[in-house]
Amino acid sequence: MRTLIKRILAATEAQDGVEVKGWVRTRRDSKGFSFLELNDGSCLANLQLVVDAGTPGYDQIAQFTTGTSAVVEGKLVPSPAAGQKWELRAARLELIGPADATYPLQKKGHTPEFLRTIAHLRPRSNLFGAVFRTRSRLAFAVHQFFQERDFVYVHTPIITASDCEGAGEMFRVTALKGNIDEKPEADFFGRQTYLTVSGQLEGETFACALSNIYTFGPTFRAENSNTARHAAEFWMIEPEMAFCDLAGDMDLGEQFVQAMARYTVEHCAEDLALFTKFVDKGLADRLKFVVERPFVRVPYTEAVQILNQSGKSFEFPIEYGLNLQSEHERFLTEEHFKSPVTVFNYPREIKPFYMRLNDDGKTVTAMDVLVPGIGEVIGGAQREERLEQLLQNMKFHKLKSEDYWWYLDLRKYGSVPHAGFGLGFERLLMFLTGVSNIRDVIPFARTPGNAEF
Ligand code: 4AD
Ligand code: MG
Repeated sequence: MRTLIKRILAATEAQDGVEVKGWVRTRRDSKGFSFLELNDGSCLANLQLVVDAGTPGYDQIAQFTTGTSAVVEGKLVPSPAAGQKWELRAARLELIGPADATYPLQKKGHTPEFLRTIAHLRPRSNLFGAVFRTRSRLAFAVHQFFQERDFVYVHTPIITASDCEGAGEMFRVTALKGNIDEKPEADFFGRQTYLTVSGQLEGETFACALSNIYTFGPTFRAENSNTARHAAEFWMIEPEMAFCDLAGDMDLGEQFVQAMARYTVEHCAEDLALFTKFVDKGLADRLKFVVERPFVRVPYTEAVQILNQSGKSFEFPIEYGLNLQSEHERFLTEEHFKSPVTVFNYPREIKPFYMRLNDDGKTVTAMDVLVPGIGEVIGGAQREERLEQLLQNMKFHKLKSEDYWWYLDLRKYGSVPHAGFGLGFERLLMFLTGVSNIRDVIPFARTPGNAEF
């Protein structure tokens, strides 16, 4: 029976009859024997195989080139070589699928840009194996974090008729041919539909029944931003809590980011060491810092003052009423506070209709969590739970209240203060791995002009 290399390398004693299956990384031939490095993706490390001439299958050794898949059986023994505890003395080897000299991952040290062009093969590289193992573990950690706190996991729909963020950045879903705007009522759903930009509105309906809920699923944005932090398809985690205000929302958001950093340090040590060595030298220290220190909280108005008084010349202007751009966010978190920062109480003009209007009549209970190297990783708010005020907000943002009748019903029947946020899973992964482009933390990136694979 096959054993994963991860298990083999964790062995506490020598073992006979061990079978491994994987892909050859390198081969070195000496007189009378060969060394093979085999990787099966279960961990970063390869298993070293020592194959003596005469071992059944050795007559084919020349074909065990980089990229070839193989099965090897043998005896696990302490390795005399430095840096590895175990090696496998082969008793039998068999080639499964050959890979010739055109295999693109021949040598180490390819650029991420090149590897993006072979997204179907890049998980076989050290870096991407590490990224996607980490992604999997963190997805588990996300569920663990919320399940331990009695949040109910809700699957909100991917096809929707409402634009949650009101930004009009939606992909159209249609079964019509020809002019799709001519007769939307003849379309599959009898109306115009889109890929969701957020599960929040549906999530609120469940929070107003089950108290604490979260979603974790794909979301879609048709914004034409060709940046290292934007993807057209990304995964978002959206908790929503009934009987919760802005302060409680910020508490949860900050604890969540800290818990994910702690999980990475404690459960992804081998891959984290690779990121720290080859991707971002400061990573391990930064994660430790995030785990140990409280986040800074600053109202939007004060953040704008800090930016204006910074003496820095920014590419984009900043004054009260304007959105914080990525450069502003990064200045606050990387240079000014040198810590993750939660900015709250933004002007109502630049935030969506569902946010609760503050007593000043000017700002809403929005909060964004900013982290070094990324900027915004979380966007959230306390929601407007007063029916009259919500109707006014919709008018203010030029939305038709009929389109949101079911959302308004939540304010009609047993309305409660409630709050939630969205965390972009890829942005979180960038922060926790040091990988600086969103295209490199999602298996198959969807960005403007890119949907191959
Ligand atoms: O700030 P956003 O737009 O907030 C919402 O969608 C709310 N409805 C969430 C809520 O309150 N339930 O998006 C939330 C997060 C951002 O902070 C960012 O991390 C990520 O989603 N995000 C993106 N990630 C990758 N590519 C994009 N184009 C993203 N747009 C937002
Ligand atoms: Mg946002």
